[in-house]
Amino acid sequence: MARTAAPFVCRACGAEALKWQGQCPQCREWDALERASGVAGEPTSAAPAHGTSLEGAHHGVASLPRLALGLGELDRVFGGGLVPGSVTLLGGEPGIGKSTLLLQLAAAVASSQPVLYASGEESVAQIALRSQRLRLTGPKLVLVADNSLDAILQLAREAPPVLLLIDSIQTMQHAQVESGAGSLVQLRECTAALVRHAKGSGAAVIIVGHVTKDGGIAGPKLLEHLVDTVLYFESDAGSRYRLLRATKNRYGPVNELGFFAMGESGLREVRNPSAMFLSRHPEPVPGSIVMVARNGGRPLLLEVQALVDRCRFGAPRRVAQGVDANRLSMLLAILSRHAELPLSDYDVFVNLVGGIEIAETATDLPVALALASSLRARALPAALVAFGELGLTGEVRPVPHGEERLRELAKLGFASVILARENVPRTPVPGLALHGVANLTEALAAAFTPPAA
Ligand code: TYD
Ligand code: MG
Repeated sequence: MARTAAPFVCRACGAEALKWQGQCPQCREWDALERASGVAGEPTSAAPAHGTSLEGAHHGVASLPRLALGLGELDRVFGGGLVPGSVTLLGGEPGIGKSTLLLQLAAAVASSQPVLYASGEESVAQIALRSQRLRLTGPKLVLVADNSLDAILQLAREAPPVLLLIDSIQTMQHAQVESGAGSLVQLRECTAALVRHAKGSGAAVIIVGHVTKDGGIAGPKLLEHLVDTVLYFESDAGSRYRLLRATKNRYGPVNELGFFAMGESGLREVRNPSAMFLSRHPEPVPGSIVMVARNGGRPLLLEVQALVDRCRFGAPRRVAQGVDANRLSMLLAILSRHAELPLSDYDVFVNLVGGIEIAETATDLPVALALASSLRARALPAALVAFGELGLTGEVRPVPHGEERLRELAKLGFASVILARENVPRTPVPGLALHGVANLTEALAAAFTPPAA
């Protein structure tokens, strides 16, 4: 933290500037520079830094078991529980369920170990009421309603918890910082103080940070590099399902996803998330097919929907929800060239049900088949699944973890799969008819051939 010389810092991107300007020189955001003075300087110390042998450090790490948080999905996202001394930022829109999640994991850990839950948003009575409604008990849970970070840290030093929860960083005030709670400088200094506390005391710290709908408000984004783990709590508008995504994790895999449902009694884990993303049509409808994607280290079933409609005015529209828009343009060109499905005069919409985003190429084949199905106004069989990458010459290419995807499909009762020939395993998968194809033409033939009577 030696870099506090620049007197101004951008609220949006964190760039530092020597003089105030109306526009940030870095990100071009207007009216975003704020005064950085009042930043608590690090005490300078002449004492030498303290070194540790690697051997000794190994010993220290091994002696610290991870904290189990009471929800398997949560432990999995953390990479097998919470690491002592780690700092986690839990971001999400207001009302998504961050405080609920915090209270639930606090109660789980506090059944046997001391936990300090500090809230700057709710009174102790409000938190207690909520815990009653959720039927949570935590014999070793201490609640404190305070906005003073110094007071909270003092309490944590006097009665050290294994887990310290801060709800939320936007409400915390560091005594040595002049600007108000929620200002960029406050956010940064409070987080830095919490990181020092975690590393010094060995307590795990989870910090809640609100983000706005557009993921904006720089606050939490700027704190990401200060912490060990960054989790985002997301949901589709109006849905009771919640996704917890690890976007940074020094102690576990990134992009791991956890699935929860918000109900009467708080958050519960969803062990079979595939059901979340399949819309249930009583009859097969044109433009829809199920695929098996891979997300966060495990297979996930999704429904791909496509709608093509003759363009009546102006340039045709291409809308992609959940899949990459450039990828969609490429697929349209492949369909036109290699399958004689000219979609240039059509508006094209592609959507992954459930508001999830998938960045893997295995979506190519199902998207192409859904588009063909919509164009031909012919439904694909309900028990049919497809996955695979499409190359520019119309070839269907294999994707990683084919067998794992197939096992998931068999488990969930699907009957037939169109996939790259190279993805067909040597030993058959019981219950699944596998159609290994080399190119798009073969895939379309397999998808639209009526089953032999
Ligand atoms: P909350 O955890 O307060 O959200 P955040 O801390 O992210 O702002 O969750 C608030 C919402 O969750 C609120 O709209 C009510 C709903 N909720 C339930 O549906 N069931 C429950 O058991 C609880 C505690 C909250
Ligand atoms: Mg809250």
